[in-house]
Amino acid sequence: MVIAGEYKAPSAETFKTIFAHMPTSVAVITVGSGEDRHGATVGSLNALSLDPPLLMFAMKQGSGLLDRLTAGTTIGINLLADRQGTIARRFATPGIDRFEDTHWCEEHALPRIDDTLAWMKGRVSDRLPLGDHLLLTAAIEHGETEDRVPLLYWKRAFYRPGPLESGATQSERERSSAPR
Ligand SMILES: Cc1cc2nc3c(=O)[nH]c(=O)nc-3n(C[C@H](O)[C@H](O)[C@H](O)COP(=O)(O)O)c2cc1C
Repeated sequence: MVIAGEYKAPSAETFKTIFAHMPTSVAVITVGSGEDRHGATVGSLNALSLDPPLLMFAMKQGSGLLDRLTAGTTIGINLLADRQGTIARRFATPGIDRFEDTHWCEEHALPRIDDTLAWMKGRVSDRLPLGDHLLLTAAIEHGETEDRVPLLYWKRAFYRPGPLESGATQSERERSSAPR
């Protein structure tokens, strides 16, 4: 039992564990062209505004990608599909050529990963330092989707979503099938 007044800020470990319980989408943000390309995995991507169409994501201070995301920079937003967990890990790994074993092409002078769930082109607008991250917003200039299943990240592992049987949760099903 927690008595009023006894709450205290969670440790970094608890904070990370709480948010590891929250499933996220997985995207790779790409920038540059030719040999000057770069990309990194993000789980913080979200829609922000409809009018104008804006998205947002957060990058840790010191990230290599962040250095490249100045206002006005054009970026590719590659929303990954369920079979692209290896790509998600690769684009989160420092010190390797992340594009080397990845199927990708260049479109609108941006690296575009093949076979994603969705692809957008955006232009960085705001960079807001908040804590140890920067919140970035980007105006969406182009977007398309494919009929694929999303890649999800949950408790530090990759998943694909599956339907609930007749809309019931596992515990509801167990309760309803238990002998009375
Ligand atoms: C599923 C997943 C989601 C991630 N989400 C983010 C994120 O939203 N922001 C961030 O700064 N790093 C995130 N990372 C970690 C970066 O991808 C990782 O630190 C990467 O090396 C950054 O590359 P860079 O230094 O070239 O920018 C995530 C990693 C994984 C595997």
